[in-house]
Amino acid sequence: MRDEELVGFLQWALPRAGLRWRGFRRVRRQVGRRLSRRLQELGVADLAAYRLLLEACPDPKSDEWRRLARMCRVTISRFYRDRRVWAQLRRHLLPDIVQHAVRAGHEELLFWSAGCASGEEPYTLALAWQHDLAWRWPAIACRIVGTDVDRVVLGRAADGVYDASSLRELPRHWREASFRPEGQSWRIADSLREAVSFVEHDVERAPPLAGADLVLCRNLVFTYLHEAGQRRFLAKLSAQARAESPLVIGCHESLPPNAGFGPHPLGHPIYYRQPSTSAPRGVL
Ligand SMILES: C[S@@+](CC[C@H](N)C(=O)[O-])C[C@H]1O[C@@H](n2cnc3c(N)ncnc32)[C@H](O)[C@@H]1O
Repeated sequence: MRDEELVGFLQWALPRAGLRWRGFRRVRRQVGRRLSRRLQELGVADLAAYRLLLEACPDPKSDEWRRLARMCRVTISRFYRDRRVWAQLRRHLLPDIVQHAVRAGHEELLFWSAGCASGEEPYTLALAWQHDLAWRWPAIACRIVGTDVDRVVLGRAADGVYDASSLRELPRHWREASFRPEGQSWRIADSLREAVSFVEHDVERAPPLAGADLVLCRNLVFTYLHEAGQRRFLAKLSAQARAESPLVIGCHESLPPNAGFGPHPLGHPIYYRQPSTSAPRGVL
């Protein structure tokens, strides 16, 4: 499959599937390989013929369009992805959230990792909780939920076995304390597996998790969905999230303007809901 052919096809198909070409530029080859396999399965000669087939069933809810959306899922992740952000979360944001809960008399916190892939992100939250926070606030319980639309990655998350490459950014003492080697891989400790629940959930279709004290939505909505989908997600989140719950997005992502979320005092990539009457908690 020639690159120009693939680019032309994706630029035509992605917006029709509610997706954004810009997000796929760098990962297009991976999508191209899946498309090649699909063409073979269908006995279709090339992408031009596949486009005709899609044009014949223009409803984005039809089977082939759904299949195409599945072929466009990018499930790359790693533990402690973007160290600078985790440093901010550990040093400022997470302690601030706990202190706020203590002042409000809450005994349980809920952290949501939306589009959690194979669990690397919610497990990193669980590691931060166990290593940095749980011993300081033993009376506060923390529930961490990782959601994803893809059952295969959720199965991997529940298994908790990872290649060394996905642990390369993790602080070494966390790896030593919370993983054990298993062949060429690393198995996460049971205490961490028990600390995170994994649930199948589609951010485009289902309402967000209600009452989350922190939402991590990184490298999904604001990379791969087109702007209308991003705005729909933010509108639903705005209706569900606690007024002051921070939203953390990916380092290379930005929010669409005037979508009801403003920059958190800690700066990009942390945001918070901005109803006209509320102000962010002072954290600096
Ligand atoms: C690139 S990974 C990001 C993983 C992690 N958040 C990170 O930043 O490392 C994107 C994940 O979003 C999931 N995803 C794609 N579309 C989704 C949807 N509509 N609802 C929920 N998850 C979705 C994919 O299956 C994939 O696991």
